[in-house]
Amino acid sequence: MSGIPHDHYEPKTGFEKWLHERLPIVGLVYDTIMIPTPKNLNWMWIWGIVLAAALVMQIITGIVLAMHYTPHVDLAFASVEHIMRDVNGGYMLRYIHANGASLFFLAVYIHIFRGLYYGSYKAPREVVWIIGMLIYLAMMATGFMGYVLPWGQMSFWGATVITGLFGAIPFVGETIQAWLLGGPAVDNATLNRFFSLHYLLPFVIAALVALHIWAFHTTGNGNPTGVEVRRGSKEEAEADTLPFWPYFVIKDLFALAVILLIFFAVVGFMPNFLGEPDNYIEANPLATPAHIVPEWYFLPFYAILRAFTADVWVVQFTSWITFGIVDAKFFGVIAMFGAIAVMALVPWLDTSSERSGRFRPMFKWWFLVLVIDFIVLMWVGSRPTEGIYPIIALIASAYWFGYFLVLLPVLGLIEKPSTNKPATIEDDFNAHYGKH
Ligand code: HEM
Repeated sequence: MSGIPHDHYEPKTGFEKWLHERLPIVGLVYDTIMIPTPKNLNWMWIWGIVLAAALVMQIITGIVLAMHYTPHVDLAFASVEHIMRDVNGGYMLRYIHANGASLFFLAVYIHIFRGLYYGSYKAPREVVWIIGMLIYLAMMATGFMGYVLPWGQMSFWGATVITGLFGAIPFVGETIQAWLLGGPAVDNATLNRFFSLHYLLPFVIAALVALHIWAFHTTGNGNPTGVEVRRGSKEEAEADTLPFWPYFVIKDLFALAVILLIFFAVVGFMPNFLGEPDNYIEANPLATPAHIVPEWYFLPFYAILRAFTADVWVVQFTSWITFGIVDAKFFGVIAMFGAIAVMALVPWLDTSSERSGRFRPMFKWWFLVLVIDFIVLMWVGSRPTEGIYPIIALIASAYWFGYFLVLLPVLGLIEKPSTNKPATIEDDFNAHYGKH
């Protein structure tokens, strides 16, 4: 547990005592929901609950969809149409699931950027962060494979392009690609294994979420000031915190209700807004669509993948010193995975002794540019690779790497943190809400 003193579960009735000595599960649940939580958390700390709710919603709708879906190349497209037209409430299930993926990614991006701004990744929360990154990778794999299942044109061609990336790995690429696909091209074996894994991975994510929660319950939550909860005495700790139930449960449920209201308005009134019309055409290996675009949540990394073409000097130089083993395609793949890797390494790249961006006068601006950069990458990832777009993509990709690899290490050394930081969480809370 957190080391913050608080009232642990005490079994009262005879049955509770009996069970507690054999399986202390009620105690575990009690201690989890009563966990002392910094009382100055702002609205950026609601997204974890939104993510948990989205995961549950995806699993429930997914299980019911799977009851009516057929993972076969001749039947998959028709079975999805059957769900949309014949199954009771089927169109609703499908639209909740498809848009639910977007809600999930929107929430995870806000959650990640919250972490990046408030320094949530810093010691002692590195493990929370790394588990989060594993969750994010598993989410990307799940989203990608799920999109293949309706077996529309984008499903097929998206799968072809993305699995083709593995073919760019020198020497072993083609073997890996064939192993992933279950054959030489995207076909029935691919659809089958993607269905199997798309069903499995959300449960892996659920297990990782349990570890994630366990980890931040061990370190205690961070908070917007970056000042830690005082642990010297029970009185001090209690002055900085409130129990999770009922205070934060009610706050989180209120936020969730507002977000779900907007979500269901989208599901009800504009369910195909984020969709791709080409995916309502059945997959045809003989007809390539004019533009192959991934779902919006993959676009920033897709932009980085495409940014490093053969005429970029870094690519040419790398190709030269590796005797051509690293060609432009492979470089793009390394850049795409590298963009996520540098984010995963941020606990060790950020050298600042100040945790929260709120008290870092220089960092604040560079962070704002990072947020804009991410949006620019998302936009440029949806554009064709012509005219000015490749240059924008290259500059935006360079900033992404520059932020993590250069700015964060250097800023920590040269920046002077602001001095108006509250001494305690209690002071921060009182300054906002008055003394209670
Ligand atoms: C299914 C996905 C996820 C779920 C359900 C989830 C859940 C949560 C919850 C409930 C919290 C505490 C409340 C809050 O801060 O909102 C939290 C905190 C945190 N999460 Fe996640 N999370 C997920 C993914 C991620 C990802 C992808 C990252 C980024 C690497 C991440 C990094 C963090 C960090 C660093 C904290 C600690 C924040 C603090 O205590 O100040 N999480 N998460």
